[in-house]
Amino acid sequence: MAERKWLITGISSGFGKEIAAQALAAGDIVFGTARNMKKLDGLKAEYPETLLTAALDVTDTESVYRVTEEAFRKLGTVDVVVSNAGYGLYGAAEEISDEEALLQIQTNLIGSIAFIRSTLPYLRSQKHGRIIQVASVAGQV
Ligand SMILES: NC(=O)c1ccc[n+]([C@@H]2O[C@H](COP(=O)([O-])OP(=O)(O)OC[C@H]3O[C@@H](n4cnc5c(N)ncnc54)[C@H](OP(=O)(O)O)[C@@H]3O)[C@@H](O)[C@H]2O)c1
Repeated sequence: MAERKWLITGISSGFGKEIAAQALAAGDIVFGTARNMKKLDGLKAEYPETLLTAALDVTDTESVYRVTEEAFRKLGTVDVVVSNAGYGLYGAAEEISDEEALLQIQTNLIGSIAFIRSTLPYLRSQKHGRIIQVASVAGQV
């Protein structure tokens, strides 16, 4: 099977890093983002040809559109878009401040919506591709 091309947010740790590492190990091409580019040094050294990266904070909508444009320009087409950047905020309601709650909503919800929306024109025009949104079963519970 020909290699697939992935665009993944938040590949510096956790699920994002694991998805990127497995795709790269399978011979696929990954365009991955992180806020702290230093954390990508290990993967970059291992896959200098097939891992492309860009700095991205998904709460900065302008940057989201700029990085998505860069990814599709460099890759040509993207087969799998993975909206993964985000984090858990754990605690009882009275232990979490409005600022903490808002930042998580800005990151996990608004950031994901902006990122997916930014990819849609490219996916529509190439007429193929899948979107994977990493979420939590806790939402359903
Ligand atoms: N682990 C779980 O049990 C669990 C359960 C349910 C859902 N999830 C979801 O799975 C996703 C990944 O979580 P994880 O557990 O793998 O967490 P993680 O190890 O903390 O990784 C989170 C990734 O998201 C990035 N990120 C965080 N805030 C960002 C922002 N504002 N802009 C851009 N990137 C940002 C981090 O990059 P930096 O290095 O730049 O911080 C990192 O690469 C999240 O959406 C989370 O809500 C996780």
